[in-house]
Amino acid sequence: MAFPTTRPRRLRASPALRRLVRETELSPADFVLPLFVRPGKGESRPISSMPGHFQYTVDRAVSAAGEAVRLGVPAVIVFGIPDKKDARASGAYAADGIVQRAAKAIKDKYPDLILIADLCFCEYTDHGHCGIVKGGKVLNDPTLALAAKTAVSQARAGFDVVAPSGMMDGQVGAMRRALDQAGFSETPILAYAAKYASGFYGPFREAAESPPSFGDRSTYQMDPANFREALREVALDVAEGADMVMVKPALPYLDVLKAVKERFGLPTAAYQVSGEFAMIKAAAAKGWIDEKKVALESLTSVKRAGADFILTYYALEASRWLSDGRL
Ligand code: PBG
Repeated sequence: MAFPTTRPRRLRASPALRRLVRETELSPADFVLPLFVRPGKGESRPISSMPGHFQYTVDRAVSAAGEAVRLGVPAVIVFGIPDKKDARASGAYAADGIVQRAAKAIKDKYPDLILIADLCFCEYTDHGHCGIVKGGKVLNDPTLALAAKTAVSQARAGFDVVAPSGMMDGQVGAMRRALDQAGFSETPILAYAAKYASGFYGPFREAAESPPSFGDRSTYQMDPANFREALREVALDVAEGADMVMVKPALPYLDVLKAVKERFGLPTAAYQVSGEFAMIKAAAAKGWIDEKKVALESLTSVKRAGADFILTYYALEASRWLSDGRL
């Protein structure tokens, strides 16, 4: 039926009608809050390119986690800035490593909050790459043993979910076997399955003090030009035992997100990364865009495209906006 019988504007006539027919609704339950943790006590160091975010000492990270709990955000993902970095990333799997200590402290206080461990080595290596380096190359297979060991250490510390983000081939399988052998067969793996070599990670590298000291990450992270390759990457991680998969970044890769959700049907996450967040913050600070409107529009778009949950630096702010009132 065409115009004038059909008039789509009829259903846009009032806020209540628009709300009634709305297809996608955001909720605090959709969000995962990223937290950066560093050694020390009583300190929150601002991250300049990510306003409102801090490198927290463990005690402060516990308070930030408490804020997530109060707002109804079900999960946090923890990144560590260790005391010292070395070639073997030993801080990543140390029983008293920084994220292991953070996990214990947060679990103690908030046992129901889901704790996700980002499993990667760029924060822990002195060269800033996500694996073992030899002769200027990031080696795949030697990194797998490290990933396996780190997954077990994280599960032991109290993490509920481990999330490998290094884009090494075979890492999900290596972690699954190690977790099962160590008695953690119930610990799910959230695979950063389609992770692109993106310029949007810029602010994160300040936050996590993890820029690579030579070269870039394009020998392991994916070429932004590729779509079919993302589906192959996801298929491999699913075959290796991933329980949930992630597409990262979010907004520039909605086509990938939608296809991954449709083809695999697994719980699918998207990561609205640091640069996506920083761009909104920066433009809003200049008065060029309405921050709340743009942030919620971005998150809504990511959910509409198929995300079951979204890792986002807006987790707390967006939750407050959503509880303040209707869009
Ligand atoms: C670790 C990791 C990165 C991000 C999440 N885990 C950085 C990178 O790959 O360089 C980026 C997150 C963000 O930009 O918000 N490898």
